[in-house]
Amino acid sequence: MKRTKIIDALKRTDFGAEINVKGWVRSKRGSKGIFFIALNDGSTIKNVQVVGDDADFSEETLRRITTGACLSVEGTLVESPAAGQASEIRATAIEILGDCDNTYPLQKKGASWEYLRTVAHLRPRTNTFGAVFRIRHNMAMAIHSYFHEHGYFYFHTPLITASDCEGAGNMFQVTTKNLYDLKKDEQGKIIYSDDFFGEQTSLTVSGQLEGELGATALGAIYTFGPTFRAENSNTPRHLAEFWMIEPEIAFMDQEELMDLEEDFIKYCVRWALDNCRDDLEFLNKMVDKGLIERLESVLKEEFVRLPYTEGIRILQEAIKGGRKFEFPCQWGDDLASEHERYLVEEHFRKPVIMTDYPRSFKSFYMKQNPETADGGSVGYKGAVAPGPTMQGTDVLFPSIGEIIGGSVREESYEKLMTEINRREMDMTHLWWYLDTRKYGSCPHAGFGLGFERLILFVTGMQNIRDVIPFPRTPKNAEF
Ligand code: 4AD
Ligand code: MG
Repeated sequence: MKRTKIIDALKRTDFGAEINVKGWVRSKRGSKGIFFIALNDGSTIKNVQVVGDDADFSEETLRRITTGACLSVEGTLVESPAAGQASEIRATAIEILGDCDNTYPLQKKGASWEYLRTVAHLRPRTNTFGAVFRIRHNMAMAIHSYFHEHGYFYFHTPLITASDCEGAGNMFQVTTKNLYDLKKDEQGKIIYSDDFFGEQTSLTVSGQLEGELGATALGAIYTFGPTFRAENSNTPRHLAEFWMIEPEIAFMDQEELMDLEEDFIKYCVRWALDNCRDDLEFLNKMVDKGLIERLESVLKEEFVRLPYTEGIRILQEAIKGGRKFEFPCQWGDDLASEHERYLVEEHFRKPVIMTDYPRSFKSFYMKQNPETADGGSVGYKGAVAPGPTMQGTDVLFPSIGEIIGGSVREESYEKLMTEINRREMDMTHLWWYLDTRKYGSCPHAGFGLGFERLILFVTGMQNIRDVIPFPRTPKNAEF
């Protein structure tokens, strides 16, 4: 008999039909010679209830129906007398496809997140991780759908690169060299000419620079792929391998970039509410009671658009009023997550798009705001800043902090070169990037969304290690 997925079986009302389902036993209980199995096949958070008469099955079969065992069940679809389910299956034949003994690591309910990370190879079989990974899939579909509908082209940028987009230097090297026997020149520098690529290469930290090549040819592109950062930050928001979505658009200005960031996130959240209802309801009940309400409220709210300088003023005001922060926040300091969260969660109580950051801690490629005679600059809607600023536009979210990092790009060759020289950057490996500014340069903008940070927000999970199947973090590359 052809297998029916449980998600489809639960929708059927042709009671009396013969049906076959396959899946893993979530639980088995029994009374008065009748047994009840909750069977799940991953197609939905919901289990199908299999009901059987002990007398119809061998003792051996009954003994082998244990938590975690894999079964094929044939039976009759019947209307369920139990609340919360329309149908159930009256079993006529049960085949044990895979036994599962009592060493199964997922037997106990209420295991901690930390424990479940140690059994990441099996945790997708739990209700919570099943829900999270189904939502993760749906968010990927939402993203492709959004950009496809809006005329963006999916552009594949390389994972192996000889350049450092963010200039932060925390890259993983790619080499086939024998690390114990490296050839060096007279100054003691490693010679890469006989390495696989003939030069020093790394895993990419961002596809943006190549994305700009796509945008300045195809008009609007997006990337969606893994990125790698050897940041030694053990936080609930950082992974060494994470997925990033990077749209890049020609002829887009700062206001339009912020419109896009807001519209795109709202589209994804709406998609989750429309397509992942059962999983969200489960998570709302078991993981985060405020989840659905928070998702719905993000759709209703207009995001605040806040120049960095104004953000600093609000933070200093709060400090004057007695609010304590661990880290300083003078104009020119990069905001710590406690500052971002104060603005988003306490002051505005909604998402904030922060703009016009000081040049000192932002990337070389960002568009420079016009400077004033006294060393200040003029930014978004004419707001004046005490120092040089760039058109960075980050989206800050409740409970997550930075979810998007974006900017308008500096399109002037001269201004870009001035900045590159000021930073004493070596552009040998980025000569091709400069060509975009030499040949038919155009205004353009883009951003990077951390996929796992979006999944954190949409699922209400607290740790980024729990929204990717097999997390990569410092000292951990298991599975
Ligand atoms: O702010 P970031 O570093 O920006 C860029 O890489 C730009 N090149 C993007 C662009 O304009 N095309 O990173 C973008 C986003 C962050 O806002 C954050 O959501 C996520 O990527 N992110 C991380 N997510 C998980 N683990 C990490 N270690 C992350 N680092 C950044
Ligand atoms: Mg950033």
